[in-house]
Amino acid sequence: MASAAAPTVLVLNGPNLNMLGTREPEIYGTQTLADIEAMVRDRAKALGLVADVRQSNAEGELVSWIQDARLTASAIIINAGAYTHTSVAILDALQAFKGPIVEVHLSNIFRREAFRHHSYVSGVATGVICGLGAQGYLLALDAVADKVARS
Ligand code: DQA
Repeated sequence: MASAAAPTVLVLNGPNLNMLGTREPEIYGTQTLADIEAMVRDRAKALGLVADVRQSNAEGELVSWIQDARLTASAIIINAGAYTHTSVAILDALQAFKGPIVEVHLSNIFRREAFRHHSYVSGVATGVICGLGAQGYLLALDAVADKVARS
């Protein structure tokens, strides 16, 4: 009997996260985005998931990918970067997605400037992980695997 296809998780990173490794390493760590994406792919595979990892600096591109995910993904893990704090468009797109959504931030946004304390994404997220660096993405995958298996 053919086994069912592994569920896909869209793992989205927003603006400036392509600069990880050199961007404020004291806040965001020394791992590059490529390092994190490789870790994410490996953990997803170990959990029986396929990670569709993408990064964009453009708000509209992120919105389009979230729209597409309604047909292609079982869950979304999103670090929207600075758009977290500004984007009603990303909020609206996420609202139309029916599966679990986990919001991730490398830094603890609540220990930082006041403008980072509000997140539009949190209003629609199933859960939020922040302040644990790249490990946050792996914890998000664990949570998503559990939720997808139960759905
Ligand atoms: C971030 C936190 C945001 O406030 C910031 O704009 C980022 C990265 C994080 O992962 O800690 O770009 O989302």
